[in-house]
Amino acid sequence: MASGTFNRLEPSLPRRAYWDPAFFAHEQRSIFGAQWVYCGRSELLPAPGDFRVADIGGESVILVRGDEGRLHAHINFCKHRGSRLLCGEGSTRGAIRCPYHAWAYALDGCLISAPFVEVEQLAQESRHLISGAVEEWGGFIFVHLPPAQEALADALGPISQRLARYPLAELRAGAVREYDVRANWKVLLENYNECYHCAGVHPELCRVVPAFKDHGGANLDWERGIPHRDGATTFTFSGTTARAPFPGLDDDERTRHKGELIYPNFLLSLSADHVAAFEVQPLDVDRTRVICTFLFHPDAMAAPSFDPTDAVDFWDVVNRQDWRICEAVQAGMHSRYFHHGFYAPMEDASLDIRRYIATHLGENALREDPS
Ligand code: FES
Repeated sequence: MASGTFNRLEPSLPRRAYWDPAFFAHEQRSIFGAQWVYCGRSELLPAPGDFRVADIGGESVILVRGDEGRLHAHINFCKHRGSRLLCGEGSTRGAIRCPYHAWAYALDGCLISAPFVEVEQLAQESRHLISGAVEEWGGFIFVHLPPAQEALADALGPISQRLARYPLAELRAGAVREYDVRANWKVLLENYNECYHCAGVHPELCRVVPAFKDHGGANLDWERGIPHRDGATTFTFSGTTARAPFPGLDDDERTRHKGELIYPNFLLSLSADHVAAFEVQPLDVDRTRVICTFLFHPDAMAAPSFDPTDAVDFWDVVNRQDWRICEAVQAGMHSRYFHHGFYAPMEDASLDIRRYIATHLGENALREDPS
């Protein structure tokens, strides 16, 4: 459909969805505190006792590798009088010990000792840290705060099948870039969901993937993958790389680009030789941290000539272009004259965000005035 022939544009989310702190708090509780949330790569916690503290839905959560190799996710407070147990990242060397009165918990969250107290005096449920569910898929960690109501496989739906040939679990981080973006997390997801903006915002990207600017990025076949220009196969400035394609990919996957958005906070962009995995962390109603991890095959990384910068530098340019325009959107929506925007037809995927918000926060969330 050519531009200018649309009869009706769908309204986007109302202004308060991007600027109201109460709306943000509702999202933290009802989305990030109630869904599977992406929390980084498994390789960050390789050995028993390795831990890192994450903020999930406004809760401080300890992610720790247990003695048996399983990951655990514990809400970060002591069952004695509530002290925070850990901060940052590191190794707990066998137990999680409270810094206040030294109650000690096994890595699975079970209280194992408390100075001068018979732990058996406590009811069974009081002896355990409160734990969420943790699952790993493709080397990616997902956490669901309690109570978990669906399995991760159900939440991923057909995505794992669509990416079945990519050796995601084998890949390793070759580089990480972190960004602090002054925009609401949904602005970033909406931006990721459409290529209507690509022609104007991403000239380098469109030179490698001209399809992104054709007809405003309409009719992109993400299922099969997006073709590069002739002679190009990957996301670098030249569209080429010395790295071999991942083993096991089919013909399309060796020459096309795929992307997935796994709600609420995981963006995956897949080239034949590298994967860019974006962890989206909402920090405030108008502030979002993005951790972009670049994954490569271990065989490529073992080569003495391995150099990830062709992909990383290209992505860094594209990312910064995205964050700049997202910040402009966030600033523009601050106007008291802004009530809501519109989704053009080639932004259809962003309607998913409207549906997602309505599903988890209720239809009232779509109204400009909820009263
Ligand atoms: Fe943790 Fe007292 S608050 S041992």
